[in-house]
Amino acid sequence: MEKRYEGKAKVIYPGPEAGTLRVYFKDEATAFNGQKRGVIEGKGAINNRISATLFRYLEAQGIPTHFLRLLSEREMLVREVKIVPLEVIVRNRAAGSFARRYGVEEGQALPYPLVEFSLKNDALGDPLIYDDAALALGLVSGSELARIKELALQVNRLLKDYFAQRNLELVDFKLEFGKLLHPTDERGAIVLADELSPDTMRLWEMQSGEKMDKDRFRRDLGGVEEAYREVLRRVEAA
Ligand code: TMP
Repeated sequence: MEKRYEGKAKVIYPGPEAGTLRVYFKDEATAFNGQKRGVIEGKGAINNRISATLFRYLEAQGIPTHFLRLLSEREMLVREVKIVPLEVIVRNRAAGSFARRYGVEEGQALPYPLVEFSLKNDALGDPLIYDDAALALGLVSGSELARIKELALQVNRLLKDYFAQRNLELVDFKLEFGKLLHPTDERGAIVLADELSPDTMRLWEMQSGEKMDKDRFRRDLGGVEEAYREVLRRVEAA
């Protein structure tokens, strides 16, 4: 099948029915806008299952997502959307680029969850973007931006609880949203897209603070595969 799109962690193919796409999860991992490259053995299958479980949970809680069903170990079927070119980041604690940018200690508590946007553009290194610039550039409308923020904060509340019940703290994460293309009566509706996995979130062991996500790869901490497998085990636990 002809590829529709290939990103750093996934390949998108046309789906079996009109208005659907097949997402294939790769083991390849990159960091720092592709400057660091590697393979996390088994990651594709793990992230496919983690994403599917979390999309199903969010759907059951009333969040519209692109997820339809699992197709194979490494593939899921999703609804076709036009991706909004923003990376939507929600932060519960200062970490990563936020801690660096503002010179605060990683792990510093935040009084309430923050929503941050980056322009999805690898050539520019996904620069931080503020609401007015996203509107002025025509990337989203005001009502779309409001809906995206509302959904991002709802997803945060739901995932934070979900992980807390599994002894993991959701420190921050990145979401991508899309606009439905079909059917006509739903055209333009905003749904959660992309993936939900240790590639796109920071998860810390509740008591010890041990990192259980892609920071183990980014920072050469070792035990990367083991951490991903353990997150899968807990996500799938009832
Ligand atoms: P940051 O602190 O490096 O900005 O990352 C914030 C969150 O977003 C973190 O959970 C990792 C995730 N993330 C991605 O999913 N893709 C990216 O390209 C980047 C930079 C971060």
